[in-house]
Amino acid sequence: MLEDFISIHDLTVYEFSQILDLTQKIKDNPQRFQNKLKDKILAMIFQKPSLRTRMTFEVGMLQLGGEAVYLSPSDIQIGTRETAYDVGKNLERWVNAIMIRAFAHQDVIDLAKASRIPVINALTDLLHPCQAMADFFTLKEKAKDLTSLKLAYIGDGNNVCHSLLFAAAKAGSKMSVATPPGYKPDSEIVKQAEEDGKETGASFLITDNPSEAVEDADAVYTDAWASMGQEEEKVDRAKIFSSYQVNKELMAKAREDTVFMHCLPAHRGEEVTDDVLDSPRSIVYDQAENRLHVQKIIMLLLLEKKQE
Ligand code: CP
Ligand code: NVA
Repeated sequence: MLEDFISIHDLTVYEFSQILDLTQKIKDNPQRFQNKLKDKILAMIFQKPSLRTRMTFEVGMLQLGGEAVYLSPSDIQIGTRETAYDVGKNLERWVNAIMIRAFAHQDVIDLAKASRIPVINALTDLLHPCQAMADFFTLKEKAKDLTSLKLAYIGDGNNVCHSLLFAAAKAGSKMSVATPPGYKPDSEIVKQAEEDGKETGASFLITDNPSEAVEDADAVYTDAWASMGQEEEKVDRAKIFSSYQVNKELMAKAREDTVFMHCLPAHRGEEVTDDVLDSPRSIVYDQAENRLHVQKIIMLLLLEKKQE
């Protein structure tokens, strides 16, 4: 297992599937894992807001017998008050692991380089790996065989899209991405995912046509058109992305049993309509629940290794 959990790209195919298998075990039998992280403390650095990430890391740590300390956006101010390097050098003296939600992906890398304790990426402008692990666990619960699965992602080629591409590559799934021109996923990330996918048989389609992307998809996924930090672009993006809304018409172009996914928070009436989000096809709250189970396993794998 890795020293840190920063990108799904860094995992071996074995480690990826090991996390999903262990997640099933902890979800089925959480009592067996109680107190596994007794006396361990997680520092949680948030440069951006959060509901799911904060709750699932904090609750996860409590359920494992450990503790979590929340550091709000105004507390540390990485890059302004102190460098990521110095933050890491301090925190390693007091706690056993760090979870960080940051703007700059480089801050997470610098923090991990500086500290001897595990660092977990809880979202950067580039990636959201814990989300994609929970999403692929959710897909595995529903679809069983990830190698014959097709995931269609519609909207902005953002952090969530990037981590889903890496996860699809490790899982051996098909993934199509439809974005407006100019909002495609990062070409370097797509290249890396394609490279990773050679080992598993994963395949990718990047298009600007949502109807083409959802064709025969097992799951249709969307995310905010303007991510945290892009609030000033919200009005412009609403116009640019208007034909990328996941609504009943688009879902009708997929199959009858196609599920709908979203990392949340959802912007109802923007990237998704209520009739899709609240429909029986929607598995968004299963995704949110599974953040808890998958992150408990990530913390256990990182911290148990440290005890060896
Ligand atoms: N999906 C997700 O990471 O939600 P939060 O931003 O609320 O943590
Ligand atoms: N792409 C979104 C995901 C939120 C969980 C953002 O970065 O704001």
